[in-house]
Amino acid sequence: MGFVTASAPGKCILFGEHAVVYGHPAVAVAIDQRISVKIQPSPNNLWLLDGSSLNMNRNPHIKGLIEKLWPEQFGAPPLSIHIEGNIPRASGLGSSAALSVATAAALRMARGRWVSKTDDTQQQHWLEGFGSTITKSEPYDNSHGFFAPESPAERYHITGKSSVDYDECAILAHSVEAAAQQGIASPMDSSTCSRGGIVIISDVIEQGIDYLYQRTLAMKDATRHWHIHEMAPPTNSDEVYLVIGSTGIHAPTGKQVAKVADMLQQDPSRMKEIDTIGQIARRGIKALREGDFAAVGRTMTENQLMLSSIGVSSPELDNLIRVASPSSLGAKLTGAGGGGCMVALTRNPKETSNAIELAGGRTLISRLGSSGLSIDESQNTTFWTKP
Ligand code: MEV
Repeated sequence: MGFVTASAPGKCILFGEHAVVYGHPAVAVAIDQRISVKIQPSPNNLWLLDGSSLNMNRNPHIKGLIEKLWPEQFGAPPLSIHIEGNIPRASGLGSSAALSVATAAALRMARGRWVSKTDDTQQQHWLEGFGSTITKSEPYDNSHGFFAPESPAERYHITGKSSVDYDECAILAHSVEAAAQQGIASPMDSSTCSRGGIVIISDVIEQGIDYLYQRTLAMKDATRHWHIHEMAPPTNSDEVYLVIGSTGIHAPTGKQVAKVADMLQQDPSRMKEIDTIGQIARRGIKALREGDFAAVGRTMTENQLMLSSIGVSSPELDNLIRVASPSSLGAKLTGAGGGGCMVALTRNPKETSNAIELAGGRTLISRLGSSGLSIDESQNTTFWTKP
């Protein structure tokens, strides 16, 4: 029987969470912890998750991806899905984005992709798919999917890794994250879990780092745009580690994002604090580009003050940040806050980790900027092809 296994890393936000939702700059790095998704044809013609019946309502990210990439109305057969990994759930480390990116990649591998005949420039063009450069929208999907019915002689079906695309996996993950967060989500998590490395989001196209794509999302109050870039880790980044400390308190991102949205609706003048986070993030980007980790750490600590001020920190996070500070260059909550995790940038990972554990936190240690999405194993991968 065929199978595909794809994996994607978690992420840790160094600067700019929450403000990035409102279009401000932010920086995230992929971490060493990953989620791996294996899919196979179902042995009993029922959707299965880790051997039990898949409850679509309790797994909205998977449900959203199936609707987009594996539409039952076109005859796509039920699958058996297995999920493994070491990214703690609901703790601000991108577990749902990593799950979504890896699932999107596995589903794409399992169906391949129709492309056109090569044109005069020997380019093949997608006849179906989702991506930042695709504007066509017909007929079976209402976002960016499309399928141009061409005569069989004019199209090819490609399979294997060449059918998988980072941008497609990230855009799909962003759309299901936004749906799970009442329509409010930045592309930070989805882009970082797909690309890996260091991802920088900005309100402008930054010079001197690689530009990837623009993302746009219509939210209730406004349509937001983000420019997404990637940056190679600075050459001296092997001098530092991230020590992530979990409070053990589950804090769903949607709830925290809604809390900030309510605060701004009740008192629009508090947008000033969000703007300040944006300015801090811009200074953080400069420090990171210069490989000045002392400044990166100081800027993280400054960012934490503003996150506290908008009410997304918690006593448990504050405590872990306080004990990590003496041995680190800087520390802050990471992700949505309200529980979940904090992160310290440190040259002494053992000392920082011990301090956090003694204060009751559980730690993970990571380098800055692990590798992104990968297809790890596959065999007889085409389980279904949209006719
Ligand atoms: C969550 O990891 C980061 C937030 O900024 C939400 C988002 O960017 O969608 C809190």
